[in-house]
Amino acid sequence: MFPRDFAWGASTSAYQIEGGWQADGKGPSIWDTFCHEKGGVFGNQNGDVACNSYELWEKDLECIQQLGLTHYRLSLSWARLLPDGTTRNVNQKGVQYYNRVIDDLLACNVSPMVTLYHFDLPQAIQNLGGWKSPGVATLFDSYSKFCFQTFGDRVKLWITINEPHVCAKLGHEVGIHAPGLKEKGTAAYLVGHNMLRAHSMAWHSYNSEYRATQKGAVSLALNSDWFEPLDPLRHEDVASAERDLAFTLGWFAWPVFVTGDYPELMRSAIETQSKMMGYSGNLRLPRFSKEDPPILGTADFFALNHYTSRKVKSGGCCRQMLSMKRDLDAEEVLDPSWPISGVSWLAVVPHGLRKLLKYIKDVFNNPTIYITENGFAQVGPLQIEDVERCKFYRKTILEVVKAIEEDGVNVRGYFAWSLMDNFEWTDGFSVRFGLFHVDFSGAELSRTIYRSGREYSKIISKYKSAQSGCQGFLEDDY
Ligand code: GAL
Repeated sequence: MFPRDFAWGASTSAYQIEGGWQADGKGPSIWDTFCHEKGGVFGNQNGDVACNSYELWEKDLECIQQLGLTHYRLSLSWARLLPDGTTRNVNQKGVQYYNRVIDDLLACNVSPMVTLYHFDLPQAIQNLGGWKSPGVATLFDSYSKFCFQTFGDRVKLWITINEPHVCAKLGHEVGIHAPGLKEKGTAAYLVGHNMLRAHSMAWHSYNSEYRATQKGAVSLALNSDWFEPLDPLRHEDVASAERDLAFTLGWFAWPVFVTGDYPELMRSAIETQSKMMGYSGNLRLPRFSKEDPPILGTADFFALNHYTSRKVKSGGCCRQMLSMKRDLDAEEVLDPSWPISGVSWLAVVPHGLRKLLKYIKDVFNNPTIYITENGFAQVGPLQIEDVERCKFYRKTILEVVKAIEEDGVNVRGYFAWSLMDNFEWTDGFSVRFGLFHVDFSGAELSRTIYRSGREYSKIISKYKSAQSGCQGFLEDDY
């Protein structure tokens, strides 16, 4: 059964919903630049207006209340608060906006979980080298302290950085996310390293300057699929699946939760490829410096973003030039029995979440876990009666129940991605993850609850009040 104080939430992020891209003194972010340059996003769409939550926040609040959420996860736009990325220049209108959001949530008895960074670096910092530059960590630390100081009297759950794996890989290796770099085999490791340094500095600042008075908790949100060997009896496939977990989740979780350094599997794989190509391994995957505050122990809980699973087999990519793919040396495949949601990458594998939760319990010292994102995508014509997504949420939440009851995993919250349809990065508005439909064709951007929103709300109210018979409720089919 879920603990009484279980967090039932939904998540969003600033660039994906706010719009108001240059309203009231906001500075540009790398996503503004990336979208305006054209060519990188479906239909050349952008987040200039998105759901216009900057002006329509009350509408979002109504959705949150209609669902009966206990928690709402939002992100702050760094460039809305600090237009040039530094605390030398504070945008008071931005401060007022987030103060209002936080105060309104609390007035409705909804706890905010606030992410400081969700993919949208101020362009001014990108111009200084962005996440590749070591100095970004200090700037992030100052921004974080500003946010703790300004909002921390009311915000008790903080996420420093959302999905460093995605920022590093899609933004700097594959180039399909801002800032659109394709520096294969080098930049992503450096970016990941600076993100960990930035996270760690912010956690230490909170720990030493704010924790005693504000009494909150700080972590970083790590994304991971569940990876399992295609053939569990083949040693190479087993090793490949382990490497995939190390290169995705372990990359960030190992330093923070286990050893203070990257997983040995990852370091040795990179060093092997480096030697073959004539590079120095340490130049690609940096070492943590004794001059920085220690990275180990810098998370008060484990925040997991999870969407799907992959089967993994060995090899598949060894003729390519230097690249992360070559370092990983594993091939991911889909099991043909897994249904696919609206986007090709999202195979529906509810039991994969249970396995991943158990893995996190075993490998990362039984942490308190919040599932900070999980969801199902739709494309194509409007389907308010989104039965497939209803099934997805029931089945997935049932797996969370099993993880808690049968595997003893300490799960403390579940946040659906997303509260409402929004700007889905490279897919623009063509892919819809919302519990509320947003009419992007109308000036009012009206929000309409999907059947899955009604279902999620029913699940929440069952679990909030009753403590028996709920499992049967989740098992009900359509
Ligand atoms: C995550 C990301 C979200 C959302 C989601 C669905 O990687 O944090 O912003 O877009 O994926 O693709």
